[in-house]
Amino acid sequence: MLLDRLARPLSDLRISVTDRCNFRCRYCMPREHFGKSHAFLPRAEILSFEEIARVARLLAGLGLRKVRLTGGEPLLRADLPELVRQLARVPGLEIALTSNGVLLHSQAKALRDAGLQRVTVSLDSLDPVVFGAMTDSAFEVSDVLGGIAAARAAGFPFVKINCVVRRGVNDLGVVPLAQHFKGSGNIVRFIEYMDVGSTNGWQREQVLSAQEILARLREHWQLVPLEPSAPGEVAQRYGFADGSGEVGVIASVTQPFCGSCNRARLSADGQLFTCLFARVGFDLRGLLRSGADDEALGNAVGAFWRARTDRYSELRSEQTRLLPRAEMSYLGG
Ligand code: GTP
Ligand code: 5AD
Ligand code: SF4
Ligand code: SF4
Repeated sequence: MLLDRLARPLSDLRISVTDRCNFRCRYCMPREHFGKSHAFLPRAEILSFEEIARVARLLAGLGLRKVRLTGGEPLLRADLPELVRQLARVPGLEIALTSNGVLLHSQAKALRDAGLQRVTVSLDSLDPVVFGAMTDSAFEVSDVLGGIAAARAAGFPFVKINCVVRRGVNDLGVVPLAQHFKGSGNIVRFIEYMDVGSTNGWQREQVLSAQEILARLREHWQLVPLEPSAPGEVAQRYGFADGSGEVGVIASVTQPFCGSCNRARLSADGQLFTCLFARVGFDLRGLLRSGADDEALGNAVGAFWRARTDRYSELRSEQTRLLPRAEMSYLGG
């Protein structure tokens, strides 16, 4: 079995299918850095579906169990269900998607039919003003809620809802968001605001810790800790004691989970990253397009993973924060 220097397997691959997005969330793609003059990846540099599926097949042979399609906004990639169909042919691989949800209404059914198993939708606030300020887009809360409803109607048994919490921005919406989805079968997860990339102007004071988030929820409901549903799961799960569902918190700043980090990230242009906070990846596209056979590819990825020592969130400090790193919209949330 393929293990890195800290004995972590490569079981989860996050695949960014595009670096573009129809939102400009302040914490991810602030408009002043991702405006008209921003150079998005040219088409020729982006991996084809066949290339992505080949990487997934190869990694499945090295222990991969799950892929998650991300971006940017993955639903902006034309004909995404075709990629899902190709990935669904890899035996034993779970296929999930993280999206901002506004294009789901037209794509949920095709994605489900193609073999997509799980959907996660980002929604930071139910308040139209706060939602507008955080996503900096012309879309509305109802577009996201419509996408979530469309996913359920298409047959996904539940949708996970991701809410990035920023103190003083959307933290008053934590309880209303939990209230809204309680009893719906959907699962809200509150995420600590992270210092990803180098454009979002992250300040530690804006992080509302998972502990504080849970304390606010516990003012309203009794919560019971639940076991992780998969090894290396990033969320801590809690059930409502009245049986009306579950919520989660993702405490990557205050309680880092690098020790069990089994994730690699593939950027849309085929660079393989072993950490969300890495500066450069491994040029898998170069190798793919040089005509390398599966054995050569497997050996190269294996060597790259075995050398891995990443644990950025456990080492986070004033110094590490200044290190250059790739943007999250590029390397795949
Ligand atoms: P499931 O557990 O399969 O439902 O998915 P997930 O929670 O891993 O995926 P999702 O795209 O919903 O990510 C949730 C949040 O966790 C996002 O803010 C991610 O950026 C963050 N996250 C996921 N993986 C990592 C990681 O390896 N390191 C850090 N620091 N954050 C991560
Ligand atoms: N901190 C925490 N989570 C973030 N995401 C994007 N940027 C950040 C950040 N700075 C979340 C998105 C999406 C998931 C893939 O990552 O909201 O739900
Ligand atoms: Fe787009 Fe998601 Fe980044 Fe928001 S967090 S700008 S929806 S990629
Ligand atoms: Fe994994 Fe890097 Fe996140 Fe730690 S900071 S959990 S090593 S991606």
